[in-house]
Amino acid sequence: MKGLLDTAELDRRRIVELLESADEMRAMRTAGHQKSEVLKGRVVATLFFEDSTRTRLSFETAARRLSAEVLSFSATTSSVNKGESLRDTVETLQAIGADGWVVRHKSSGVPAAIARWSNVPVVNAGDGWHQHPTQALLDAFTITREFGTPDSLEGVRVAIVGDVRHSRVARSNVDVLSKLGAEVVLVGPRTLLPVEGGGWGARTTDDLDGVLEDTDVLYLLRVQRERMTAPRLPDRSEYCERFALTPERAKRLKSGSLLLHPGPMNRGTEVQVDPSVITQSRILDQVSNGVAVRMAVLADVLGAPERNIGSAAGGSAA
Ligand code: CP
Repeated sequence: MKGLLDTAELDRRRIVELLESADEMRAMRTAGHQKSEVLKGRVVATLFFEDSTRTRLSFETAARRLSAEVLSFSATTSSVNKGESLRDTVETLQAIGADGWVVRHKSSGVPAAIARWSNVPVVNAGDGWHQHPTQALLDAFTITREFGTPDSLEGVRVAIVGDVRHSRVARSNVDVLSKLGAEVVLVGPRTLLPVEGGGWGARTTDDLDGVLEDTDVLYLLRVQRERMTAPRLPDRSEYCERFALTPERAKRLKSGSLLLHPGPMNRGTEVQVDPSVITQSRILDQVSNGVAVRMAVLADVLGAPERNIGSAAGGSAA
């Protein structure tokens, strides 16, 4: 069953195809076509067992722009609160008639479990520390629009900074960006870095100032306290002093470089400047690009072959 659970499923060719498809989706909207009919008659169920603003809304927007119906499930307002199990919840929504699932859960592996139980494609919208594949794709899309070519980030230096250890975004980005040829360095206090890269295939350092001026893409992460099983930050002010984007560091950002953050941002912690006045910031572009990228992913995993991306241009104008 075609779905998207892990960036490990994506080879470079499929990444490039998805980014090209996202570009077509974005161009379609720019040209005034509000909707395509790629998923007309399909039902996309969004199952969110963990809070989300960007991912949920952009998947639901993406599904509607492809003319799918959306079944929107939120654990906080569901019968999960009355003791219903995950499996019973999935079987209930399947009985209502979902053609595909978009799943977020605080535990790693839940989207994969749902994929085993169901007979429709599952897209992972973030599971625990594990993976957030569409975030990595939208980040790659955002970067490739400014650097390199759509199929290559050879020579582009990306520094992912902060709580890397607990970050599904960092894990997914290292994989996707490295496959496109970028040089990724992971930056943070040693307690928040994977041990020696943890087999992630990226260099690690605890010296942000040592890499800042050579960095083409500065990617800041939130400190994910909700995922910490033990205290790993002895002193918040020391963390901010060494790893936050301060006004002084913002002045040292390379001209033409990019500032990214997956959101939600913790202003006053990892971000100590107003990103809206930093010319390098593409943080809101990431959000906009997320819709186009998720349209591409949904069309890829749920679209009938004869209703491929190319037919998206036949969408309806506003
Ligand atoms: N980047 C991201 O996953 O944001 P949300 O948690 O708001 O979906």
